[in-house]
Amino acid sequence: MAHKIAVIPGDGIGPEIVREARRVLDSADGKYGFELEYTQLLMGGASIDVHGVPLTDEAIAQAKASEAVLMGSIGGDAKTSPWYKLEPQLRPEAGLLKIRKELNLFANLRPAYLYDELRAACPLRDEVIGDGFDMMIMRELTGGLYFGARETVVENGVRKAVDTLVYNEEEIRRIAVKGFDIARKRRRKVCSVDKANVLDSSRLWRAVVEEVSRDYPDVELSHMLVDNCAMQLVKDPAQFDVILTENMFGDILSDEASMVTGSIGMLSSASLNETKFGLYEPSHGSAPDIAGKDIANPIATILSAAMMLRYSLDLDEAADAIEAAVSQVLREGYRTVDIMSEGCTRVGTAEMGTLIAARV
Ligand code: IPM
Ligand code: MG
Repeated sequence: MAHKIAVIPGDGIGPEIVREARRVLDSADGKYGFELEYTQLLMGGASIDVHGVPLTDEAIAQAKASEAVLMGSIGGDAKTSPWYKLEPQLRPEAGLLKIRKELNLFANLRPAYLYDELRAACPLRDEVIGDGFDMMIMRELTGGLYFGARETVVENGVRKAVDTLVYNEEEIRRIAVKGFDIARKRRRKVCSVDKANVLDSSRLWRAVVEEVSRDYPDVELSHMLVDNCAMQLVKDPAQFDVILTENMFGDILSDEASMVTGSIGMLSSASLNETKFGLYEPSHGSAPDIAGKDIANPIATILSAAMMLRYSLDLDEAADAIEAAVSQVLREGYRTVDIMSEGCTRVGTAEMGTLIAARV
């Protein structure tokens, strides 16, 4: 029976990178004996243009009726796009936050891995790269500053804005459990990142992570302050296996981690709830400045599609094949412009997708 997949191409480079991910999935389905049935959904600016809101209840219902959601990216140029003249809760990003919350996608997995072939694209010095690195950023995705109360007011003629950082122990516990579970499938190391020297929410985070760790005596737990972590990521990235952190810190650290892998165009992500359901999207944004030019790197989206096969559909063999095809294309020297280096062959978005699809 066909697996029901909701597809959200989104804005900017979204439609072109999703098209390549689908090309790769389509080349895998016959070979690995599965079938996907796609329903296209609108979100972000694309939904605002049609419905006036970045995500409709109907789209949420359709996403819920699927086994997984494959997404490109949403958002436009904040300076020039009319979407940013709307109230904040009607802008493209609000659609993304809403779908994360409505589907309870509290666990965001962002693997940052240095392909040997991309050493030249890595901005770190050779002695820092060493034998390379392979980490998993586990970002809490439905709490913290992103979802606390916020307001902008004028008090005695002075403008004031408030954002609230809230976590309860249950929210911390469930992401910590996922983090330790994932560490067990990797190198059994969790580094929990917080700002416990200043924030109450971080002190609670640390205490709950400690409690959870008692059920995982085989996993080594360490704690690191977020400012130090930002530094350690460029100083010695190989020290990390699983980085477990709250929403805002995870947003920032995952962009940093992606850059040390060579390009944010390589970083996939999975957002999961308690079930097998997941939303899969590249960690990067919609890059409106390069949209429609056939230069965006589709690999992060293609690797996100592989994660979808692995985590939501239990199609590990097909996921392995897609990941191997990506490695092979890089080994053969094909590069989009963001990861281009001397002696390699520069290709566009569609050609990169076609090359990967042919090697699945
Ligand atoms: C990400 C993005 C989003 C976030 C934006 C687009 C709201 O930066 O997925 O990392 O901050 O979570
Ligand atoms: Mg981000």
